[in-house]
Amino acid sequence: MPNFVKVASTSDLKPGENKVVNVNGNEVALFNIDGEFFAITNTCPHRGGPLGEGFLEGEVVTCPWHGWRFNVKTGVSPVMPTAKVPTYKVKVEANDVMVSVE
Ligand code: FES
Repeated sequence: MPNFVKVASTSDLKPGENKVVNVNGNEVALFNIDGEFFAITNTCPHRGGPLGEGFLEGEVVTCPWHGWRFNVKTGVSPVMPTAKVPTYKVKVEANDVMVSVE
């Protein structure tokens, strides 16, 4: 059973916004795309930049450090398909956004 942890309220992130949250000590990047929430690791595989502080455009976030890009729904880079970051399960219950990193 995935262990879901509340990380935000639905009103904390507007569509097109993202932020860094903590799930049991793991830094996770949370995104709101058209009212739907998605989560990937916060750690960019290039040099560890904070993807949750990146620039979100459609489904793609750009790392704020050197510009690597990842689709936040799939974790896959649209530029280099071999570059991939872990994605995490998200569920919304009432106004709670919950993430499981298991
Ligand atoms: S650390 Fe993310 S692009 Fe370099």
